[in-house]
Amino acid sequence: MEQTAKIIIDGKTFELPMITGSEGERAIDISRLRQEVGVVTLDPGFANTSACLSRITFVDGERGILRYRGIPVDRLAEHSTFVETAYMLINCELPTQEQLNRFSVMLNDHSLVHEDMRAFFENFPRWAHPMGILSSMVNALRAFYPEIPERTEEEEINITVTRLLSKVRTMAAMSYKIFRGHKVAYPRHDLTYAENFLSMMFDSPVRPYDIDDDIVNALNVFWILHADHEQNCSTAAVRVVGSAKVNLYAAISAGICALWGPLHGGANQAVVEMLGQIHENGGDAAPFIARAKDRNDPFRLMGFGHRIYKTYDPRARVMKKVCDRILDKQRVRDPLLDIAKRLEEVALEDPYFIDHHLYPNVDFYSGILLKAIGIPLNMFTVMFAIGRLPGWISQWKESSDDPKWRLQRPRQIYIGRKERAYIPIEKRG
Ligand code: ACO
Repeated sequence: MEQTAKIIIDGKTFELPMITGSEGERAIDISRLRQEVGVVTLDPGFANTSACLSRITFVDGERGILRYRGIPVDRLAEHSTFVETAYMLINCELPTQEQLNRFSVMLNDHSLVHEDMRAFFENFPRWAHPMGILSSMVNALRAFYPEIPERTEEEEINITVTRLLSKVRTMAAMSYKIFRGHKVAYPRHDLTYAENFLSMMFDSPVRPYDIDDDIVNALNVFWILHADHEQNCSTAAVRVVGSAKVNLYAAISAGICALWGPLHGGANQAVVEMLGQIHENGGDAAPFIARAKDRNDPFRLMGFGHRIYKTYDPRARVMKKVCDRILDKQRVRDPLLDIAKRLEEVALEDPYFIDHHLYPNVDFYSGILLKAIGIPLNMFTVMFAIGRLPGWISQWKESSDDPKWRLQRPRQIYIGRKERAYIPIEKRG
């Protein structure tokens, strides 16, 4: 029997349909509420609002579960590669060997960036943040690769998706090389996706880059852990902007802008900066914890807390292990990792953090890993963006293919002034 919820307004009872997701999550369908009952709902920050039905990613924030297309993220981190996971997110199923080979060939074929785009990269000011550069350049891709009317819609989407996955990685490495004033390194057909990225970032005519399998594996894990996270801020931005039927490049560019923020993807950079400050202050985290707990201080412990996870973020657990492994292998003792571990221990026993359900999130250890790989601080969020691309793309595809597609346009409750007269400037005072 279909379940319903009852709502009583002005003494009248209305019945609203209920929906149950495949993991038992229940929701009240309020889509006809205004039409039938004459009221809307208010939910600042959308903390209690599902904006869509989705088959891509399942997150249970209370139990610390994250699955892509049904597969737990730690299994993917252990057994899959970023390219395979990206394929699965976008095409629903894990690829056969033949499908994977074909996908890899396409990624290779589309990895070059139009030479004319280099002029744009070279003319950004040296101090420009790479996220700003990336979002502009991704938007500019449409101008360099316009739609070809002879192609079917499906062909066009497949090419755009492959271009984005491949070129964004090239563009990220290119912007770093240009920022350093170095010769751009081109992608190589004999390298895998992650190997290619590392080679484009670090290979130089005077110091060839030796590809290390453990670093390649760590990078794959980093990207897999970031590949999707259902309706987070940047994904919601991609869906909202995409709902206006803009091209995919523009929608992804909007996602990159949203991810840039320190409350979202920018947190991995903010964590390392915060750990650096603690280190400079002699390694004592206590004043930082005290500030985070002080209601009159806007300071927050970066890398802690999550809108959905009210327990340990499952991605943070995997990230911490990879981080330990890479630093052990490099025989490097990063004082920031020691501080992070101490900070975690103290915070997890502190009543404020316990009561507020604040646990380390994916960004808490990811910055330390990126630092160990040699990625510069201002590129951290770009690394996140490369990882999140398959998620954005699959969410965009799902919403564009939805037969019930609608322009996304929230309502509001107006609390401003009522109608009043226009006063000419000479009479104001
Ligand atoms: N340090 C100290 N207090 C915190 C923190 C933190 N990191 N995060 C939340 N709180 C407190 C708030 O002060 C608030 O306390 P109060 O109820 O006593 O006023 C309470 O916890 C709830 O905070 P909200 O901001 O309402 O929680 P929300 O779900 O909106 O925020 C967010 C989630 C933005 C991630 C927040 O936890 C935060 O700012 N964390 C630090 C930044 C960060 O690490 N972001 C990365 C998120 S993961 C990602 O995007 C991939």
